Amino acid sequence: MTRVLVVGSGIAGLWTAIRAAERGCHVTIVTKAALGEGATPWAQGGIAAAIFAGDAPTRHAADTLSAGAGLGDPAAVRVLTEEGPARIRDLIRFGVAFDRDESGIARGLEAAHSRARILHAGGDRTGAAIEAALVETVRRRGIRVIEHTTLVDLVVESGRVVGIRVVGDEPGAGSPRPVPAAGAPATAPASPPGPTSLRELRADVVVLATGGAGQLFRHTTNPDVATGDGVAAAARAGAAVADLEFVQFHPTALAVPGTPLISEAVRGEGAVLRDASGRRFLLEIDPRAELAPRDVVARAVWRRMAEQDGAPVVLDATHLGAERLAARFPGIDAACRAAGFDWSREPVPVVPAAHYAMGGVVTDLAGRTSLPGLWAVGEVARTGVHGANRLASNSLLEGAVFAERAARDLAAAPSAPVPAPAPAPVQNGGYTIRRAGDGPGIDGVADRISAEMDASGRGLVERGELQQLMWDHVGLERDARGLAAASARLDGWRAPEPVDRRTAEDRNLLDLARLTVAAALARTGSVGAHTRTDAASVAETEREAA
Ligand code: SIN
Repeated sequence: MTRVLVVGSGIAGLWTAIRAAERGCHVTIVTKAALGEGATPWAQGGIAAAIFAGDAPTRHAADTLSAGAGLGDPAAVRVLTEEGPARIRDLIRFGVAFDRDESGIARGLEAAHSRARILHAGGDRTGAAIEAALVETVRRRGIRVIEHTTLVDLVVESGRVVGIRVVGDEPGAGSPRPVPAAGAPATAPASPPGPTSLRELRADVVVLATGGAGQLFRHTTNPDVATGDGVAAAARAGAAVADLEFVQFHPTALAVPGTPLISEAVRGEGAVLRDASGRRFLLEIDPRAELAPRDVVARAVWRRMAEQDGAPVVLDATHLGAERLAARFPGIDAACRAAGFDWSREPVPVVPAAHYAMGGVVTDLAGRTSLPGLWAVGEVARTGVHGANRLASNSLLEGAVFAERAARDLAAAPSAPVPAPAPAPVQNGGYTIRRAGDGPGIDGVADRISAEMDASGRGLVERGELQQLMWDHVGLERDARGLAAASARLDGWRAPEPVDRRTAEDRNLLDLARLTVAAALARTGSVGAHTRTDAASVAETEREAA
């Protein structure tokens, strides 16, 4: 019987756990906070799928590839869009009550979708509804859960991942907490807590479902758990990672501390963006205006803010009316009011914020990574569906579709040698980085990171400074000078010993920041969410070459 360790408890992790357990695996979920916390419950807009009359998976696929600026993997996108409708039916069976209107399940529109195909629940509380249904299923089925326990490293023996090293929130914390009616132990006994509660959990198979890394940046829509633990640990273990330069910045976070998200679905309902003079400036930039792909809108907001000395632009939803706003977007309505805004009467200030990692641990279509024994699902994975810019509301869908495939795969062939996904990655010492499209390899990153082992004279990384550095130089617009400055500053820091959650996260953030900067330096053209102001865009370069 396969012993499976799932690290993370958002949609992808919980889905994998439930489905693998159904197939007879002994599953343990390890999660950094409490079960039910994380990024999934924060998802507002919804989940996209071609389930409505007049739509088709091929249309959804075309929109996904187009938003991805030509760097998406068509095979992965076909899987996502063709299998999406079946996963929506599964969600309904899990107990998610999608919102309905007179036509049946209600459908929302978001940017760069050619059809209204976004399902939502609780208005703008879709992620919370999905998370609650999956948590309830995990509890009901007695799947074992270890909470408040942070991934430190993968344990690799003879080239195969055989477990994870973890640390509890405090010495002794994070002890296995079986839910009543749990079956046989899903993992071998953990080694006893040491002085720092650092210990190993062993299994036949490890599934990374650790989510994204918005905490790399000063401003983010992500919760504080989003520190890139899975990508950093996988890279340290030698797994292929890719596309780390593609970080999606959401254009409309409320410009108040904590930057709460204002969903793209609000623009889908008709809200518009205005600059300081009240002008609807997006009309000058793209005929799709507020419903242009997210990278286009975010860049336009960023540039207009620069032109008006950093003042936020505003989102004007006043014409939608108080009643409709409160009914369709109860969470955002409450967030605006808590911040002192009545968005039914006045436009609200918005700014871009780091939102989603398109890159991550390279997987094939069954979630297999390049390391035997290791699978990755959800935001931590780089399946190839997003290319250089993710289409709105494809992330929950990706989590469900590829978790389903991973669960099937690891239950069917748990101990078989796992081939690395093609094409072959570029080797960089202990790190392996593969890039979408073409472009040079990324040399020297591994050496710099491993040099922290003998980091005499270098100061410990400070998280706030790292986040500010990444925001200033690795944000919506980048150039070689800023990236080189960021790289030098990152080299000047060393990671702390991972003795608790905070230090483990800081180490992961530092490693991932270095990898991200290296990837951004190596991609010298602009494409999708990666904008190099010192280079012609890829489209311009291609036009010139022709
Ligand atoms: C949003 O509601 O705008 C975010 C949805 C997403 O990131 O897909």
